[in-house]
Amino acid sequence: MNLKKKKKQNKFFNIAIDGPAGAGKSSISFLVSKRLKILHLDTGALYRALAYHLTSCPNFYEVNFNLEEKLKGCNVEVEFCEGVQKIFVNEIRVDEFIRTEKIANAASLISKNICVRKFLLNLQRDFAANNNLIMDGRDIGTVVLPNADLKIFLTASLKVRALRRFKELKLKGVSVSFSDVLKDVKERDLNDVERKISPLKAAKDAVVLNTTNLTVEESVSSIIKLAEKFVLGEHV
Ligand code: DC
Repeated sequence: MNLKKKKKQNKFFNIAIDGPAGAGKSSISFLVSKRLKILHLDTGALYRALAYHLTSCPNFYEVNFNLEEKLKGCNVEVEFCEGVQKIFVNEIRVDEFIRTEKIANAASLISKNICVRKFLLNLQRDFAANNNLIMDGRDIGTVVLPNADLKIFLTASLKVRALRRFKELKLKGVSVSFSDVLKDVKERDLNDVERKISPLKAAKDAVVLNTTNLTVEESVSSIIKLAEKFVLGEHV
C-alpha cells in the first residue's frame, strides 16, 4: 500500500471506490456519503441506465447493432434530491427499471465499448470537479479520477458476493437459484476484469478493503477512518 497524504488537487475532495459486483460498493458508499454529508455518485447506475435505454431497441442483441450511432440520440442527466441520485435518459427517469440481472448483464456488455466509456466520462468528472463526493464503480481510481484524494478497492470472496446478490434478489421477491446468481456474478467479473478498456483493477495507490468477513457498518467505519486520516484534514 502506498498511501500518503496527497496535496490538495482542487477545492473539493473526491473519494474513489472500485471493486467487483456484489462487494457492497454502492450501499457502503451511500452510507459513507450520508455520514460525511457529501454526494454519492453510483456510476454503475449510469451504465445500467444506458443499458436499459439501449436494450429497448429491438436489434440490441444483433451483431449489426450500431451502438455509437444510438448514443448520438441519447442524453443522460443526473440529479440529486436530498442525497438520492436520480437518472434521466432523454428526460425519462429510469432508476426503478435498472436493478434487474438482465440490465446488469447488458451494462457489463456495453461497458466494454470505448464509445460508451467516453460518453459517460465527462459527466462523472464534472460532478467530481464541483462537489465533495464519493464515487463508486470499476475504473474510478484508475481512469475517471486518477487524482482522487482517497482510493479504495472494495472486494470480497466470489461466494460471499454472490450470496449477497442472491439475498437482495430474494428480498425483492425475484425467483432465482443461487447457482444462477453465482454464474452471473462470475461472468460479470470476467467481463469487467478482462475487457481491454478501463478494466476493473485496483489503482496502485488504492487501499484494498476485503469485506468478506466485515459487516456493512464495519466497512463504513473503516472508510470513514481512512477519510478522516487522509482526506478531511486537508480540506478544512
Ligand atoms: O456496479 P454495477 O453492478 O451497478 O455495474 C453494472 C456494470 O456496469 C458492471 O458490470 C460494469 C459496468 N461499470 C463499468 O464498466 N464501469 C463503472 N465505473 C461502473 C460500472
